[in-house]
Amino acid sequence: MFRPSRRLATLPTPATIAMAARARELKAQGKPVISLALGQPDFPSPAAALDGAVAEVKAGHTGYPPIPGQKPLLEAVAGKFRRDNGLDVSLDQLMVCNGGKQAIFNAFMASLDDGDEVIVPAPYWVSYPLIARMFGGVPVEIACREEDGFRPQAEAIRQAITPRTRWLVLNFPNNPTGAILERDDLEAIAAVLREAPHVMVMSDEIYEHLTFDGRHHLSLLNVAPDLADRILIINGMSKAYAMTGWRVGVACGPVPLIRAMIKVQGNTTSGICTLAQGGSVAALKEDIAGVQAMRETYERRRGLVVDALRRIEGLSCALPQGAFYAYPGLSALIGRKSAGGRLLSDDVAFAEALLEEAHVATVPGSAFGYGPHLRLSFAASDEELEEACRRLAGFVQGITD
Ligand SMILES: Cc1ncc(COP(=O)(O)O)c(C=O)c1O
Repeated sequence: MFRPSRRLATLPTPATIAMAARARELKAQGKPVISLALGQPDFPSPAAALDGAVAEVKAGHTGYPPIPGQKPLLEAVAGKFRRDNGLDVSLDQLMVCNGGKQAIFNAFMASLDDGDEVIVPAPYWVSYPLIARMFGGVPVEIACREEDGFRPQAEAIRQAITPRTRWLVLNFPNNPTGAILERDDLEAIAAVLREAPHVMVMSDEIYEHLTFDGRHHLSLLNVAPDLADRILIINGMSKAYAMTGWRVGVACGPVPLIRAMIKVQGNTTSGICTLAQGGSVAALKEDIAGVQAMRETYERRRGLVVDALRRIEGLSCALPQGAFYAYPGLSALIGRKSAGGRLLSDDVAFAEALLEEAHVATVPGSAFGYGPHLRLSFAASDEELEEACRRLAGFVQGITD
């Protein structure tokens, strides 16, 4: 009979996936569910990517790929770092993985021993602590404050570092808050890292193209090139290129780490689907205008959603500076009752009641280590977003003491 391993048994299903699954169930029962739970662009993948994938098959590239990635893709990725970040990286500093998620998995498997600590500023994307725990890592959360714009503070990082610290995880633009790190923030964090030469940094920059109000993404490596032998950049095709299903992620880091990650990948997935690699080359070589057009749409929708949320009495909503999520705070509504009689004891209860009673799927902030909040993805149509906000307003109006 099947018995899950001890390691797996203690791992919860990520709340993002659990909420999306419950939303699908309700939809199958005919309920008019709007799902703002998943971080999934609602645009089609670029036409160039489809053509590139077809060309790859037609060229007969259907055998096992090289484990780190096919050379044309690694070259296109190096070109991306030059074009978008002004960084010169060599091909042996790069690998492609089955999504950014596998890049993180590879890195933690390649580097963590039991009891090694991974500093994760909260709110965080759910997978960092979960993957770290798979390999015996101990997530050490540091709470970012809303009044600091949810940016991790250098001093808090300094205080969290111990001799067991192996990694600091940074993610900007951030999922779930949309916070970005500017030059000053990065310089202050780099100064702390210079005092702690045993700490590696995972800099997840997968939302780099989705920044608002004229801001431009600055990579940690731009600010601290002297730390290149300790910085692992995570990126990928999913968010900027609307290619979530293609499963192409990118890792860029010091050669010894990348070699170790290649060893992990060689023993797990044996590399990335060749069609997806051909499609990714074509998408990366295209003009960046397509990505910019999606960015503008997200920025417009951010305005629509944040305005609507700020009009709802009892919610507070910071303005996201990037990515495609709003992260309203719920503290004034916790401990009260929904119109359907459910006790809103915390943000999990709130998100469940909102889904059951108003059929809007979101993710509770506590899943990201920071509640009571809700994460709403604005990678959805204007109509869906307007209707979801209307329903949320109605749901909140119905709340009683
Ligand atoms: C911050 C962050 N990093 C990495 C990923 C991984 O994306 P993928 O595995 O699709 O490349 C996600 C996806 O939601 C994310 O939000």
